[in-house]
Amino acid sequence: MEIVILKNADAVAKKGAQLLTELIRQKSNAILGLATGRTPIALYEQLIGIYRTGEISFAEVSTFNLDEYLGIDEDDDQSYRAFMNAAFFDHIDIDIRNTYMPFCKEGENPRTFGLGFENEILCHGGIDLQILGIGGNGHIGFNEPASSLKSRTRVKALTQRTLQDNKHLFDENEHQPRLAMTMGIATILDARKIILLATGSGKAEAVQKMVEGPLSSMCPASALQLHQHVSILLDEKAAAKLQNQEYYLWVYEQNETLRKQFGSFYNI
Ligand code: GLP
Repeated sequence: MEIVILKNADAVAKKGAQLLTELIRQKSNAILGLATGRTPIALYEQLIGIYRTGEISFAEVSTFNLDEYLGIDEDDDQSYRAFMNAAFFDHIDIDIRNTYMPFCKEGENPRTFGLGFENEILCHGGIDLQILGIGGNGHIGFNEPASSLKSRTRVKALTQRTLQDNKHLFDENEHQPRLAMTMGIATILDARKIILLATGSGKAEAVQKMVEGPLSSMCPASALQLHQHVSILLDEKAAAKLQNQEYYLWVYEQNETLRKQFGSFYNI
Protein backbone atom coordinates (compact mmCIF):
# COMPACT_ATOMS: atom_id res chain seq x y z
CA MET A 1 0.00 0.00 0.00
CA GLU A 2 1.25 3.44 -0.81
CA ILE A 3 -0.17 5.95 1.66
CA VAL A 4 -0.31 9.46 0.22
CA ILE A 5 -1.17 12.15 2.77
CA LEU A 6 -2.18 15.45 1.17
CA LYS A 7 -3.16 18.82 2.59
CA ASN A 8 -6.89 18.81 1.82
CA ALA A 9 -9.74 17.23 -0.16
CA ASP A 10 -8.95 19.38 -3.20
CA ALA A 11 -5.38 18.02 -3.34
CA VAL A 12 -6.75 14.46 -3.05
CA ALA A 13 -9.06 15.01 -6.03
CA LYS A 14 -6.24 16.55 -8.07
CA LYS A 15 -3.84 13.69 -7.32
CA GLY A 16 -6.49 11.10 -8.20
CA ALA A 17 -7.24 12.93 -11.46
CA GLN A 18 -3.54 13.08 -12.29
CA LEU A 19 -3.16 9.30 -11.87
CA LEU A 20 -6.26 8.59 -13.96
CA THR A 21 -5.10 11.00 -16.65
CA GLU A 22 -1.71 9.26 -16.83
CA LEU A 23 -3.48 5.93 -17.35
CA ILE A 24 -5.83 7.21 -20.08
CA ARG A 25 -2.93 8.84 -21.91
CA GLN A 26 -1.07 5.51 -21.83
CA LYS A 27 -4.11 3.42 -22.69
CA SER A 28 -6.92 5.22 -24.49
CA ASN A 29 -9.26 2.23 -24.17
CA ALA A 30 -8.67 1.79 -20.42
CA ILE A 31 -11.22 -0.10 -18.34
CA LEU A 32 -12.09 1.93 -15.25
CA GLY A 33 -13.84 0.81 -12.09
CA LEU A 34 -15.81 3.73 -10.67
CA ALA A 35 -17.38 4.65 -7.35
CA THR A 36 -20.25 6.79 -6.15
CA GLY A 37 -20.55 8.78 -2.91
CA ARG A 38 -19.58 12.31 -1.94
CA THR A 39 -15.84 11.68 -2.00
CA PRO A 40 -15.25 11.04 -5.73
CA ILE A 41 -17.41 13.99 -6.88
CA ALA A 42 -14.41 16.37 -6.73
CA LEU A 43 -12.33 13.81 -8.66
CA TYR A 44 -14.96 13.67 -11.43
CA GLU A 45 -15.03 17.48 -11.53
CA GLN A 46 -11.26 17.54 -11.99
CA LEU A 47 -11.44 14.95 -14.77
CA ILE A 48 -14.19 16.88 -16.56
CA GLY A 49 -11.94 19.97 -16.40
CA ILE A 50 -8.99 18.04 -17.85
CA TYR A 51 -11.23 16.55 -20.57
CA ARG A 52 -12.35 20.08 -21.52
CA THR A 53 -8.75 21.16 -22.10
CA GLY A 54 -8.53 18.39 -24.73
CA GLU A 55 -5.77 16.55 -22.84
CA ILE A 56 -7.76 13.32 -22.56
CA SER A 57 -10.70 11.67 -24.25
CA PHE A 58 -13.02 9.02 -22.86
CA ALA A 59 -14.29 8.00 -26.30
CA GLU A 60 -12.67 4.55 -26.08
CA VAL A 61 -12.90 4.11 -22.31
CA SER A 62 -15.25 1.61 -20.65
CA THR A 63 -16.38 1.83 -17.04
CA PHE A 64 -17.79 -0.56 -14.46
CA ASN A 65 -19.39 0.85 -11.35
CA LEU A 66 -18.97 -0.82 -8.00
CA ASP A 67 -22.55 -0.90 -6.85
CA GLU A 68 -26.18 -0.04 -7.46
CA TYR A 69 -29.26 -0.13 -5.28
CA LEU A 70 -31.59 -3.04 -5.72
CA GLY A 71 -35.30 -2.38 -6.12
CA ILE A 72 -35.19 1.09 -7.64
CA ASP A 73 -35.26 1.81 -11.33
CA GLU A 74 -32.27 3.09 -13.26
CA ASP A 75 -34.34 6.17 -14.18
CA ASP A 76 -34.94 6.95 -10.52
CA ASP A 77 -33.13 10.10 -9.34
CA GLN A 78 -31.71 8.10 -6.43
CA SER A 79 -30.13 5.41 -8.60
CA TYR A 80 -26.36 5.34 -8.87
CA ARG A 81 -26.87 5.43 -12.66
CA ALA A 82 -28.49 8.85 -12.24
CA PHE A 83 -25.64 9.92 -9.95
CA MET A 84 -22.94 8.83 -12.41
CA ASN A 85 -24.65 10.46 -15.40
CA ALA A 86 -25.09 13.76 -13.57
CA ALA A 87 -21.67 13.81 -11.87
CA PHE A 88 -19.55 12.53 -14.73
CA PHE A 89 -20.83 10.75 -17.86
CA ASP A 90 -23.06 13.61 -19.12
CA HIS A 91 -20.03 15.93 -19.20
CA ILE A 92 -17.50 13.83 -21.10
CA ASP A 93 -17.33 12.11 -24.50
CA ILE A 94 -17.80 8.59 -23.18
CA ASP A 95 -20.16 6.29 -25.09
CA ILE A 96 -22.89 5.65 -22.52
CA ARG A 97 -23.20 2.06 -23.83
CA ASN A 98 -19.71 1.46 -22.46
CA THR A 99 -20.70 2.47 -18.92
CA TYR A 100 -21.78 -0.59 -16.96
CA MET A 101 -23.72 -0.41 -13.71
CA PRO A 102 -24.62 -3.49 -11.66
CA PHE A 103 -28.28 -2.72 -12.23
CA CYS A 104 -30.37 -5.84 -11.68
CA LYS A 105 -33.86 -5.33 -13.10
CA GLU A 106 -36.97 -6.15 -11.10
CA GLY A 107 -37.70 -9.87 -11.47
CA GLU A 108 -34.19 -10.72 -12.68
CA ASN A 109 -32.38 -13.34 -10.61
CA PRO A 110 -29.63 -11.40 -8.76
CA ARG A 111 -27.36 -14.45 -8.73
CA THR A 112 -27.52 -14.79 -12.51
CA PHE A 113 -27.08 -11.05 -12.83
CA GLY A 114 -23.96 -11.12 -10.63
CA LEU A 115 -22.37 -13.86 -12.73
CA GLY A 116 -23.16 -11.93 -15.91
CA PHE A 117 -21.60 -8.73 -14.53
CA GLU A 118 -18.41 -10.57 -13.55
CA ASN A 119 -18.34 -12.12 -17.01
CA GLU A 120 -18.72 -8.74 -18.70
CA ILE A 121 -15.69 -7.45 -16.77
CA LEU A 122 -13.69 -10.50 -17.86
CA CYS A 123 -14.77 -10.09 -21.50
CA HIS A 124 -13.36 -6.55 -21.37
CA GLY A 125 -10.03 -7.92 -20.18
CA GLY A 126 -10.46 -6.93 -16.51
CA ILE A 127 -10.37 -3.56 -14.76
CA ASP A 128 -7.19 -1.54 -15.23
CA LEU A 129 -7.84 0.95 -12.47
CA GLN A 130 -10.46 0.78 -9.72
CA ILE A 131 -11.48 3.94 -7.85
CA LEU A 132 -12.78 3.39 -4.32
CA GLY A 133 -14.17 5.40 -1.44
CA ILE A 134 -14.51 3.97 2.05
CA GLY A 135 -17.54 3.79 4.30
CA GLY A 136 -17.34 5.01 7.89
CA ASN A 137 -17.57 1.33 8.88
CA GLY A 138 -14.74 0.29 6.55
CA HIS A 139 -16.92 -0.90 3.67
CA ILE A 140 -15.74 -0.75 0.06
CA GLY A 141 -18.43 -0.77 -2.60
CA PHE A 142 -21.28 -2.05 -0.46
CA ASN A 143 -19.22 -4.87 1.04
CA GLU A 144 -20.31 -4.40 4.60
CA PRO A 145 -18.39 -5.75 7.63
CA ALA A 146 -18.32 -9.58 7.68
CA SER A 147 -18.43 -9.74 3.87
CA SER A 148 -16.45 -12.67 2.55
CA LEU A 149 -12.98 -11.63 1.47
CA LYS A 150 -13.53 -13.91 -1.54
CA SER A 151 -16.91 -12.44 -2.46
CA ARG A 152 -18.02 -11.71 -6.02
CA THR A 153 -20.79 -9.47 -7.39
CA ARG A 154 -23.93 -10.20 -5.39
CA VAL A 155 -26.67 -8.66 -3.24
CA LYS A 156 -25.76 -7.23 0.15
CA ALA A 157 -28.08 -6.05 2.89
CA LEU A 158 -26.92 -2.66 4.13
CA THR A 159 -26.04 -2.14 7.78
CA GLN A 160 -27.90 0.31 10.00
CA ARG A 161 -24.72 2.42 10.09
CA THR A 162 -24.61 2.73 6.28
CA LEU A 163 -28.34 3.44 6.06
CA GLN A 164 -27.88 6.15 8.66
CA ASP A 165 -24.78 7.60 6.93
CA ASN A 166 -26.66 7.87 3.62
CA LYS A 167 -30.03 8.95 5.05
CA HIS A 168 -29.42 12.65 4.36
CA LEU A 169 -29.50 11.87 0.62
CA PHE A 170 -33.16 10.86 0.77
CA ASP A 171 -36.22 13.03 1.39
CA GLU A 172 -38.31 12.13 4.39
CA ASN A 173 -40.99 10.27 2.43
CA GLU A 174 -38.60 8.90 -0.19
CA HIS A 175 -37.89 5.16 -0.22
CA GLN A 176 -34.33 4.38 0.92
CA PRO A 177 -33.26 0.99 -0.44
CA ARG A 178 -31.82 -1.46 2.07
CA LEU A 179 -30.34 -3.84 -0.46
CA ALA A 180 -27.70 -3.26 -3.08
CA MET A 181 -25.90 -5.17 -5.80
CA THR A 182 -22.16 -4.75 -5.31
CA MET A 183 -18.91 -6.01 -6.76
CA GLY A 184 -17.39 -8.41 -4.23
CA ILE A 185 -14.08 -8.00 -2.46
CA ALA A 186 -12.45 -10.56 -4.76
CA THR A 187 -13.84 -8.66 -7.77
CA ILE A 188 -12.23 -5.45 -6.50
CA LEU A 189 -8.92 -7.17 -5.78
CA ASP A 190 -8.79 -8.42 -9.39
CA ALA A 191 -8.28 -4.85 -10.63
CA ARG A 192 -4.73 -4.24 -11.82
CA LYS A 193 -4.41 -1.01 -9.86
CA ILE A 194 -6.56 0.46 -7.08
CA ILE A 195 -6.87 4.03 -5.84
CA LEU A 196 -8.85 4.63 -2.65
CA LEU A 197 -9.80 8.20 -1.74
CA ALA A 198 -10.79 9.26 1.76
CA THR A 199 -11.33 12.76 3.07
CA GLY A 200 -12.62 14.25 6.32
CA SER A 201 -12.39 13.23 9.96
CA GLY A 202 -15.40 10.90 9.66
CA LYS A 203 -13.16 8.47 7.79
CA ALA A 204 -10.13 8.60 10.13
CA GLU A 205 -11.00 5.53 12.18
CA ALA A 206 -11.87 3.35 9.17
CA VAL A 207 -8.67 4.48 7.43
CA GLN A 208 -6.54 3.55 10.45
CA LYS A 209 -8.12 0.08 10.60
CA MET A 210 -7.74 -0.42 6.84
CA VAL A 211 -4.04 0.47 6.81
CA GLU A 212 -2.72 -0.51 10.22
CA GLY A 213 -5.31 -2.93 11.56
CA PRO A 214 -5.36 -6.67 11.02
CA LEU A 215 -6.69 -8.15 7.80
CA SER A 216 -10.28 -8.80 8.76
CA SER A 217 -13.67 -9.09 7.10
CA MET A 218 -14.86 -6.79 9.91
CA CYS A 219 -13.02 -4.01 8.09
CA PRO A 220 -13.58 -4.98 4.44
CA ALA A 221 -11.16 -2.28 3.21
CA SER A 222 -8.33 -4.07 5.06
CA ALA A 223 -8.50 -6.64 2.23
CA LEU A 224 -6.60 -4.05 0.16
CA GLN A 225 -3.53 -5.09 2.17
CA LEU A 226 -3.51 -8.14 -0.12
CA HIS A 227 -3.21 -6.08 -3.31
CA GLN A 228 0.14 -5.24 -4.89
CA HIS A 229 -0.72 -1.86 -6.42
CA VAL A 230 -2.88 0.23 -4.11
CA SER A 231 -2.59 3.97 -3.57
CA ILE A 232 -4.49 5.39 -0.60
CA LEU A 233 -5.04 9.13 -1.15
CA LEU A 234 -5.90 10.89 2.11
CA ASP A 235 -6.36 14.42 3.31
CA GLU A 236 -4.86 15.31 6.68
CA LYS A 237 -8.16 14.81 8.49
CA ALA A 238 -8.71 11.29 7.17
CA ALA A 239 -5.06 10.45 7.96
CA ALA A 240 -5.22 11.86 11.49
CA LYS A 241 -5.45 8.50 13.32
CA LEU A 242 -2.64 6.75 11.44
CA GLN A 243 0.20 5.83 13.81
CA ASN A 244 3.01 5.93 11.24
CA GLN A 245 2.24 9.11 9.35
CA GLU A 246 5.84 10.31 9.22
CA TYR A 247 7.01 7.04 7.77
CA TYR A 248 4.32 7.09 5.04
CA LEU A 249 5.28 10.65 4.06
CA TRP A 250 8.93 9.65 3.85
CA VAL A 251 8.17 6.54 1.77
CA TYR A 252 6.05 8.62 -0.61
CA GLU A 253 8.89 11.11 -1.08
CA GLN A 254 11.30 8.27 -1.88
CA ASN A 255 8.84 6.72 -4.34
CA GLU A 256 8.30 10.05 -6.08
CA THR A 257 12.07 10.41 -6.52
CA LEU A 258 12.31 6.90 -7.96
CA ARG A 259 9.33 7.52 -10.27
CA LYS A 260 10.95 10.70 -11.60
CA GLN A 261 14.06 8.71 -12.41
CA PHE A 262 12.57 5.44 -13.67
CA GLY A 263 8.90 6.15 -14.40
CA SER A 264 5.97 4.47 -12.71
CA PHE A 265 6.73 0.99 -11.35
CA TYR A 266 3.32 0.02 -12.45
CA ASN A 267 2.61 -0.64 -16.12
CA ILE A 268 -0.69 -1.69 -17.62
C1 GLP B 1 -21.35 4.53 -0.23
C2 GLP B 1 -20.86 3.68 -1.44
C3 GLP B 1 -19.37 3.47 -1.38
C4 GLP B 1 -18.72 4.75 -0.89
C5 GLP B 1 -19.05 4.96 0.56
C6 GLP B 1 -18.60 6.30 1.11
O1 GLP B 1 -22.47 4.08 0.39
N1 GLP B 1 -21.49 2.44 -1.61
O2 GLP B 1 -18.89 3.08 -2.65
O3 GLP B 1 -17.32 4.66 -1.00
O4 GLP B 1 -20.42 4.70 0.81
O5 GLP B 1 -19.36 7.34 0.62
P1 GLP B 1 -18.98 8.87 0.81
O6 GLP B 1 -17.87 9.13 -0.14
O7 GLP B 1 -20.23 9.61 0.49
O8 GLP B 1 -18.55 9.03 2.23
